[in-house]
Amino acid sequence: MPRQLFVTTALPYANGNFHIGHIMEYIQADIWVRHQRMLGNAVDFCGADDTHGAPIMIAAEKAGVTPQQFVANIAAGRKQYLDGFHINFDNWHSTDGPENHELARQIYRDLRDNKDGSLIESRTIEQFFDPDKGMFLPDRFIKGECPKCHAKDQYGDNCEQCGAVYAPTDLIKPYSALSGAKPELRNSVHFFFKLSDPRCVEFLQQWTQDGKLQPEVANKIKEWFTVRTNPDGSTSEGLGDWDISRDAPYFGIEIPDAPGKYFYVWLDAPIGYLASLKNLLGQRGQDYDAYMANPELEQYHFIGKDIVTFHTLFWPATLHFSGRKTPDNIFVHGFLTVNNGEKMSKSRGTGLDPLKYLSLGMNPEWLRYYLAAKLSSRNEDIDFNADDFMARVNSDLIGKYINIASRAAGFITKRFEGKLGEVTEDGAALLHQLRSEVGTIEQFYESREYAKALRETMQLADKVNAYVDANKPWDLAKKPDQEGRLQDVCTVCIKAFRILTCYLKPVLPALATQVEAFLNIEPLNYANIVQPMATGHVIGTYQHLMQRVDIKQLDALFEAPEPIEAAQETAHPGGEAIAPTIGIDDFARIDLRIAKIVDCQAVAGSSKLLQLTLDVGELDEAGQPRLRNVFSGIASSYSPEQLVGKLTVMVANLAPRKMKFGISEGMVLAASHADEKAQPGIYVLEPFPGAQPGMRVH
Ligand code: 2FM
Ligand code: ZN
Repeated sequence: MPRQLFVTTALPYANGNFHIGHIMEYIQADIWVRHQRMLGNAVDFCGADDTHGAPIMIAAEKAGVTPQQFVANIAAGRKQYLDGFHINFDNWHSTDGPENHELARQIYRDLRDNKDGSLIESRTIEQFFDPDKGMFLPDRFIKGECPKCHAKDQYGDNCEQCGAVYAPTDLIKPYSALSGAKPELRNSVHFFFKLSDPRCVEFLQQWTQDGKLQPEVANKIKEWFTVRTNPDGSTSEGLGDWDISRDAPYFGIEIPDAPGKYFYVWLDAPIGYLASLKNLLGQRGQDYDAYMANPELEQYHFIGKDIVTFHTLFWPATLHFSGRKTPDNIFVHGFLTVNNGEKMSKSRGTGLDPLKYLSLGMNPEWLRYYLAAKLSSRNEDIDFNADDFMARVNSDLIGKYINIASRAAGFITKRFEGKLGEVTEDGAALLHQLRSEVGTIEQFYESREYAKALRETMQLADKVNAYVDANKPWDLAKKPDQEGRLQDVCTVCIKAFRILTCYLKPVLPALATQVEAFLNIEPLNYANIVQPMATGHVIGTYQHLMQRVDIKQLDALFEAPEPIEAAQETAHPGGEAIAPTIGIDDFARIDLRIAKIVDCQAVAGSSKLLQLTLDVGELDEAGQPRLRNVFSGIASSYSPEQLVGKLTVMVANLAPRKMKFGISEGMVLAASHADEKAQPGIYVLEPFPGAQPGMRVH
């Protein structure tokens, strides 16, 4: 019976782009999902942006946009990373979506109205309030002098100088990091989830210690049941209750029957997993309640080690005591460091910029392969090391695996019209050995022991290469009486290559698709590797499947961008001084219109230009749509496929210009830094949803 799986990764805060730590987690989960699909299991793989909370609200205010606009802008940037690294979520949603508002409120009501006694309690607490901003301050937004070492400007929860942990009220001369004002202590009613309730403790002890969690994770959790650290650094016995509310103004979900009170972001964030699923099912016309009621449904969350408490205590308790299904497991991974550097911090994803990686033309599957070659089922940190990366990709992936195809396929194509021959006797034994490892490989992927799966596969590749070396097709090719044997030896290699491709497919999906096309075979899965390609099967022409990593690419990847003097940047934002003032009449002379990019082509002979066909809603004399031809110098930042179908803004009354490649009838608006070398990147403008071709931009 195929299994039904619901799989998620941690929802990223919607106040920044993805960094390499996010990409690692998504690749880890994506490999597992692809493996499940190769087994014939049904998987719904969901992600979303984690949109709520004070930091995002404050960042939006600083940017001069609403929080909704702010998170929408971040969301618009997600696809290029996910597509770029072949991370195949079935849905990407938002914790600010209607499904999440509704689900969070219902789950809260169910907890509050639990028939065996409410799990929610309200209490009045004292908290710092910023009188200038008119809001209660989260600990992170209170600063002051450390009560222990007297270092200035320390955060409200701990001192970065001496490491002391304390409560914000312990700070000497506290001030608001938002306004600089002296905060006042004020009372406020907060809602608490009663984690200390004996029912809860009993349930969580059982849930966390029943053997499903990784042993190192379960052991760590055990400690939390006996001792806990308070905000002031002292310790208490057992689980503490969890403060799940925040006061307005707060970007979040309003608590039912409590105007002006909002759920703390960590209450509604994991509910966002369910909201994304519900949204996906809605798109398919499937019933969410029926889906969740399936007793066979398995639910898994991939997360990093810094958010274990939320996922192994708060989240299962929230689900269980609101009468819902709890996760089947939580898969915890460690942090990724780069070149033995510091941990990939959430706020500063230093080290390896994923988009820079892609823009340098580096193959996303190199990174997938390299990370998989380091990942195990354990919660331990892994390091991205540039030399190791190059060695593993060039020596293992290409030297051992790709080379098998490149050594054999040429002969089959050139000498035998692409036709496969028979299998030699020693070849049959080799292929049998390769196929008999399918169970082991499957098991390694299933238990997230990807490093072991790849090591095993590379050992099999070594055996195939030993077969090639022993049979020397290049020598056979020189002997006319050995034609038959040459065909058979190469046939064994191609068949072996097919099996190895299957074993690598969860990690290298795009490459596997290319191989399937080249071998002229059905999509590979674990079950169909036993069906051999028949004698006489015709394969396609071999085209090189993967380039080697070039050291220059790695040098460029880690080359620090040239620093831009902060002072100069403030005086000249974007690298250039603001142009002289103009009147509104000057501006009105420029007719800006919304344009639809109906077609886009590369320009032969130019690496800079793209040729755009734009619809600005105009008709010609015959009443037919009139389209504009515009050349734009944006080829360094976009491929034609990225632009077709999008809306943008154009200068519609610019005099036509004759260019080397044709006449350009207008100009598309795009942003860039004045110093393109220091800050590369061109960003074409795209209007908010709702704008129509032809609308004027005022
Ligand atoms: O730590 C984080 O980045 C959180 N945004 C993760 C949330 S995971 C889930 F609960 F939504
Ligand atoms: Zn200190």
